[in-house]
Amino acid sequence: MSTGTETTAASEGLRGVVAAQSAIGDVDGIQGKLIYQGYDIHDLAENSTFEEVVYLLWNGKLPNQAELDEHVAQLKANYEAPAEVISLMKQYPKDSDPMDVLRTAVSSLDLYDPKGQGTDRESAVGAAVRITGQIGTIAAAWDRIRNGKDVVAPDKSLSIAENFLYMLRGERPDADEARMFDIALILHADHELNASTFTTRVVAGTLADMYGCVTAGIAALAGPLHGGANTNVMKMLIEIDDPAKIDEWVDNALANKKKIMGIGHAVYKTEDPRATWLRKFSKQMADRKGESQWFEMSQRIEQLMLEKKGMYPNVDFYSASTYYLMGIPLDLFTPIFAVSRISGWTGHILEQYANNKLIRPRAEYIGKRDQKYVPIGER
Ligand code: COA
Repeated sequence: MSTGTETTAASEGLRGVVAAQSAIGDVDGIQGKLIYQGYDIHDLAENSTFEEVVYLLWNGKLPNQAELDEHVAQLKANYEAPAEVISLMKQYPKDSDPMDVLRTAVSSLDLYDPKGQGTDRESAVGAAVRITGQIGTIAAAWDRIRNGKDVVAPDKSLSIAENFLYMLRGERPDADEARMFDIALILHADHELNASTFTTRVVAGTLADMYGCVTAGIAALAGPLHGGANTNVMKMLIEIDDPAKIDEWVDNALANKKKIMGIGHAVYKTEDPRATWLRKFSKQMADRKGESQWFEMSQRIEQLMLEKKGMYPNVDFYSASTYYLMGIPLDLFTPIFAVSRISGWTGHILEQYANNKLIRPRAEYIGKRDQKYVPIGER
């Protein structure tokens, strides 16, 4: 019988460890398949909207028209961030990293939500609606504030995708670009127990509130091995600059054991199905802007990494050139990831609250034992 105290050998990075049961999403790394609540990501990207996917992740089913209308109305009613939060953001140092700003500002939303501390379904969904409605407002507002521009108030007639681009630029995107961005949000919405989602579940497991869980998720997403990779892909393309230098650059990077950002995945051993869409968008944006260099460079890197390492691009690889050609600043790529992933995080947090058990694994102890305390003067 288990005493609950035994330890077994640690799995490095918890690879292969099943740490939770979830009905939200599943990644089949061998087949290159991703599903949300049983629906294939390609089907959702083709036919759904980000708002509908948010509903699906929170409720486990697609909404009927009345349910969708109600859900969208609630999100729209929460587009506006509290004036105090925006006002405080104006005091932040202008060179602050947008992910640090997002983490700080989203955390502070808790202070303006009287019911935000509840972990019962109704309070937690209320907080999830608020954060999902406002996270894009905050990310876009920061870019305006740091550039000394007026903050653009959200427009309730727009979708989350349209609204984000509108608040960022002060101009509405055209229908094609808005749809592309909407699909990008769908593609990033959930990815099973990735590092940030696992983080949110660990925090939820303590029955900390929704804002605390999401704040921790944003912190985890910011790392360069997770959501930070998309920005680094674009930095890499800009650094290489010349398509003629790619082969040498990649050879050098591999010889120096440097990782190529946007390539490889902890679960997918074949093409990441999200990359299939983003490759298409990168090409579409290249054609729209008449600037094919970034797409072509990406393609060559993809080809080389497949030949040399048998590795495939992940979601971050082609989102980089897609967002860049949409005119989005490099350091907003990861906040955009958060604007989408908020849906998966909140879905997982709701699922964790609904059937909670404190997450408390063991460590395999590899330190010394039987050490005797030596007074400081004798060390
Ligand atoms: N470029 C070059 N080599 C890579 C690589 C990359 N992007 N990703 C992995 N490798 C190599 C590692 O150097 C390692 O080689 P070694 O066995 O000779 O030491 C081997 O492949 C295994 O790497 P590891 O990091 O242990 O694999 P993982 O499954 O844990 O890695 C990632 C998954 C995503 C962390 C890793 O592929 C990576 O860092 N990619 C770049 C960052 C990125 O795009 N992150 C976004 C993920 S969605």
